[in-house]
Amino acid sequence: MSGLATNLGSYDLSSLLIGASGTVGSVVDFRETIDFSLYGAAPAKSVSPEAWSGREPPRIAHRDAGMLNGIGIQNPGIEAWAVAHADAFVSIPTDVWGSVVAHDLDGFAEVANQMSLSGVDAIEINLSCPNLDGRPFALDPKLSGDVVSAVRAATTLPIGAKLSSDAEPIIAIAAAVQEAGADWVVVANSVMGSSIDPETRRPALSGLIGGYSGAPIRPIAIKSVLEIAKGAPDLPIVGCGGVSNAAHVVEFLLAGASAVAVGSAHFKTPRVGKSITRGLNRYMKRHDISSVTELIGAYEPW
Ligand SMILES: Cc1cc2nc3c(=O)[nH]c(=O)nc-3n(C[C@H](O)[C@H](O)[C@H](O)COP(=O)(O)O)c2cc1C
Repeated sequence: MSGLATNLGSYDLSSLLIGASGTVGSVVDFRETIDFSLYGAAPAKSVSPEAWSGREPPRIAHRDAGMLNGIGIQNPGIEAWAVAHADAFVSIPTDVWGSVVAHDLDGFAEVANQMSLSGVDAIEINLSCPNLDGRPFALDPKLSGDVVSAVRAATTLPIGAKLSSDAEPIIAIAAAVQEAGADWVVVANSVMGSSIDPETRRPALSGLIGGYSGAPIRPIAIKSVLEIAKGAPDLPIVGCGGVSNAAHVVEFLLAGASAVAVGSAHFKTPRVGKSITRGLNRYMKRHDISSVTELIGAYEPW
């Protein structure tokens, strides 16, 4: 077994490195570009009950060292998604995770149920979408717990809940989803943000507010991981936010994550998984570490 192997509770991963949903397409359409054999799992872009057309352009803007996106979770809906991709999941040399999103509980349950029949290995729950009242599930412990309960009842697959660092306190959301049956949490999704061009006075995104991702959000995600690792020590964590090299991965492990997802870095360097894997192997050799699991939560307090 590779020293990069880890687990999320009883769910084993061949590598701690994971793709971040929405940055590796449907997984199937990125299989020639990204070497998924280096990843412990590849989560596909989020899928809703019906097709969502997404927002009008502009939907992407680079700001400072990060990236704003307001795609609006464009996707073909679960039925068309399963027809287009399910048969090809066996060709992916790692676990494929589906990602469910909806505006209400029935929608989450329906997508999770249909997704389970499509051959995915686990299901990630994207809680960052607004409910019918316009409030993101991820900001409310009760709403988040209700979504996880609905998905838990709809599938026997392992499930992870993807949280938002915008939630305050995030430990309340983590505790609610753990209680509702989540096997792990992904910490975290992009941070809500916006930007306006002083010359044109136009917002960078047609939808005004979107998700900010990349290097600037890493300290925010690390803080969220630390809080959850302390407050819910038996809840496995996938760290996510601003990872583009092996040192960033180690940082998340030391904070308490058991696995680490790479997102926006794929847009600049689709093969970033290779340099991260090499870097991790070098780090382990240098520090005489035989398994990355030795690093989980192992930061040295001052
Ligand atoms: C263009 C784009 C699309 C995304 N789509 C999704 C999505 O469909 N579902 C989801 O859970 N997260 C989505 N995300 C969030 C990422 O999975 C990740 O949580 C976030 O970008 C933070 O990680 P990073 O800083 O490494 O990019 C998207 C991010 C970007 C940049």
